[in-house]
Amino acid sequence: MRVGVVGAGYVGLVAAAGLALGGHQTVIAEANPSRLARLRERRAPFLEPGLDEWLRRAGERLSVVSSVREMGPRDAIMIAVGTPSGVSGQGDLTQVRQAVEEVVRTAAPGTVIVMKSTVPPGTGRELVRQYVAPARRGLAYVSNPEFLREGKALHDWLHPDRIVVGAEEAWAAERVAELYRGIDAPVLRTDITSAEMIKYAANALLATKISFINEIANLCELVGAHIDDVATGVGMDPRLGPHFLQAGIGYGGSCFPKDTRALYFTAAVNGYAFELLRAVIEVNRRQRIRVVHRLNTLLGGLAERSVAVLGLAFKPGTDDTRESPGLEIARTLAGYGAKVQVYDPAAVLPDSGGPPGSPVVLSPGLVRVASLEDAVRSAQAVVVATEWPEFVEADWERLYRLMAAPRVVFDGRNCLDAARLAAMGFRYVGVGRRVAPATGDADVAPASLAEGTGGA
Ligand code: UDX
Repeated sequence: MRVGVVGAGYVGLVAAAGLALGGHQTVIAEANPSRLARLRERRAPFLEPGLDEWLRRAGERLSVVSSVREMGPRDAIMIAVGTPSGVSGQGDLTQVRQAVEEVVRTAAPGTVIVMKSTVPPGTGRELVRQYVAPARRGLAYVSNPEFLREGKALHDWLHPDRIVVGAEEAWAAERVAELYRGIDAPVLRTDITSAEMIKYAANALLATKISFINEIANLCELVGAHIDDVATGVGMDPRLGPHFLQAGIGYGGSCFPKDTRALYFTAAVNGYAFELLRAVIEVNRRQRIRVVHRLNTLLGGLAERSVAVLGLAFKPGTDDTRESPGLEIARTLAGYGAKVQVYDPAAVLPDSGGPPGSPVVLSPGLVRVASLEDAVRSAQAVVVATEWPEFVEADWERLYRLMAAPRVVFDGRNCLDAARLAAMGFRYVGVGRRVAPATGDADVAPASLAEGTGGA
């Protein structure tokens, strides 16, 4: 098939490369000149493992243009543009509207418009009424949400759990299902609004699992239980499953925070107060604040305290810092007067230019340094905000020597060996983790439960 993709972000580019490798003549339209230049060199403008290789392998089957107009006749045009959060948490659909308008204006009769961008339930119906139907050119609109995880997007493209196709016309639904020929996954056909809702409901439920286990972890601290064992035991029930039960400093990224807010907002404008979702969002916000509260207690204040924050990417395997818990914690600590050094092996920050390898001042009191050791040198506390292998596998004995007393390690992802670090003399604090006193040396055991951890 001849396919067009509008927008070379994470979703658009992975989809375009995947479609081209699947045998479709694919053209991707990207307006941003620097992204366009990188794409022409067959390089992805962001970190996604394996994607450069896919772009090269796609060869002639994938071409790049700067606007929808230049795509030529297409059987299907996929829209994968950004939907940032608006001021009240509603999805900002400016780019989506522009893209639909342009596609409707320029597409050949019979083109299927495939919405990949995440748009609030009800949006597709409205776009059809406003743009697609009045054009009267036999265009069809299909909602086809994506469930790709950053860092694992290629695997998820090839092995989706399901392909959701929300359409009013059977021929359009069939054409979209045909885009995925060769991919072994069940195709679920629904109406447009239900397809839109599936995406939000899935993300909201995953976010709910995370906030739920985080609350259980907070409670574990108060009653003296161990979240690792609790999560394992809970996850052994196949009705609950072991996934998304990793307690920590909460979820970040381009999807969960934005989509939960947008769903909450959609409910509100439809006259419904989605209280459970409000709590999920609030718990996630508080989970980050708890770190600051805890360090404030352990360091006897924050002003002039030296803290290293390790991990600015919202999770390992990506350079994405959107809604990054680590970045927010670092900024908050610096706001309270702490001297904060941040380090991440891959994260891209819009304001962190400067020569590679040299420290970059992000804001007063907040410096990005070029190595793990530079970050922890003289730090009184370290916050592990992203479970990068570099941090998990670090030589913590060496880091201990570089740090200054009281050598707090706040393991915001419960990814370190708590007992080992405690035995080395660190004041280890996890999220809902109990740390057994080190044998033979009660003084070095951290008082993780005795310090009044609740409340924040
Ligand atoms: C998510 C969905 O998984 C994907 O299906 C959807 O298309 C987009 O949103 P992504 O944002 O790439 O994907 O990351 P994911 O791996 O789901 O993690 C999101 C956040 O939740 C990360 O900050 C992660 O650290 C956090 N998380 C995840 C937890 O805190 N605990 C967990 O148990 C799982």
